[in-house]
Amino acid sequence: MLNYFNPDRPIKTFQQTKEISMKVSIIGGGGLVGSCAAFALQCGGIAREIALLDVNQELAVGQALDLQHGCPSVADQTIVGGGYEHIPTSDVICITAGLRRKPDESRLDLINRNTDLFMQILADVKAAGPKPDAIVLVVSNPVDILTYVAAKELGLPCNQVIGLGTQLDTIRFCSLIADQLNAPPTQTHALILGEHGDSMVPVWSSATIAGLPLDRYPGWNPSLANQLFTRTRGSGAEVIKRKGGAGFAVGIAIRDVIDAIALDKRCVLPVSSVQSGCYGIRDVALSVPTVVGRTGVVDRMEIDLWPKEVQGMRASGAALRKTLDVVLQRIGR
Ligand code: 2OP
Repeated sequence: MLNYFNPDRPIKTFQQTKEISMKVSIIGGGGLVGSCAAFALQCGGIAREIALLDVNQELAVGQALDLQHGCPSVADQTIVGGGYEHIPTSDVICITAGLRRKPDESRLDLINRNTDLFMQILADVKAAGPKPDAIVLVVSNPVDILTYVAAKELGLPCNQVIGLGTQLDTIRFCSLIADQLNAPPTQTHALILGEHGDSMVPVWSSATIAGLPLDRYPGWNPSLANQLFTRTRGSGAEVIKRKGGAGFAVGIAIRDVIDAIALDKRCVLPVSSVQSGCYGIRDVALSVPTVVGRTGVVDRMEIDLWPKEVQGMRASGAALRKTLDVVLQRIGR
């Protein structure tokens, strides 16, 4: 096809520009987390096509229609509701389906109720035939356990299976610190690593606001540390108690990871994947600083941590490994 403005340079066909068009399928897209993730992706305008898959197809179609109505004011995207027929053409498969925790229930307690459902979803994804280079993003809880199971069950290379992990905890942590100190949230950087759960680890050693070490920022005092971390760790339960379950911030955290994949950003995010030695942790999935790009986990960065932070990471790994052994025995793996 010739380009009328410059006949010597043919216009790139859609196929040639395919590498920049990204299709995301969200399993559980009818629910709160999945539909908030779809809305965050729509507002970000990066994903070319968003498919909402849900056991309640009518709900998924309804969510997709409601989102699609907003497209003229946001971006030229296709947003549909449907089933596993979307899997073979998806570049990213985001699994948010699962039963929600009760306010007093830990994420790990939820595992038995969610494992059977999750195993069926994995079987259905595998049967539907994902693309060889598809990236699977696990959000369902307990996310570290289910990320490990997905990495072992799906038959995709381990680097192509990522768990949302502590990306959500990290943005919650930053938001609470910023709120406490009346600082700009976008310039507040403080990591949470390890388990997306009770053994998560606050990384104070590298926390900064506007490039300043946190402990030199106006208004900071060490007595705030415990209160801020405790509230961060309890944020999931707090939101469940107040409004039944998290949606908006989870959707933003999911969009952070999917944008990194879609744009091959190779940015460093605290997301979960099966470890192979970072901080001396292996054969369990948890969050370490991870370089995320189009191929999923591109690399991991063992950034310098205080000794007690490394100990916390290893304790997190041990807690998860204990539960993983029980789950793997239960599912006969
Ligand atoms: C949370 O922390 C859903 O696990 C998620 O709210």
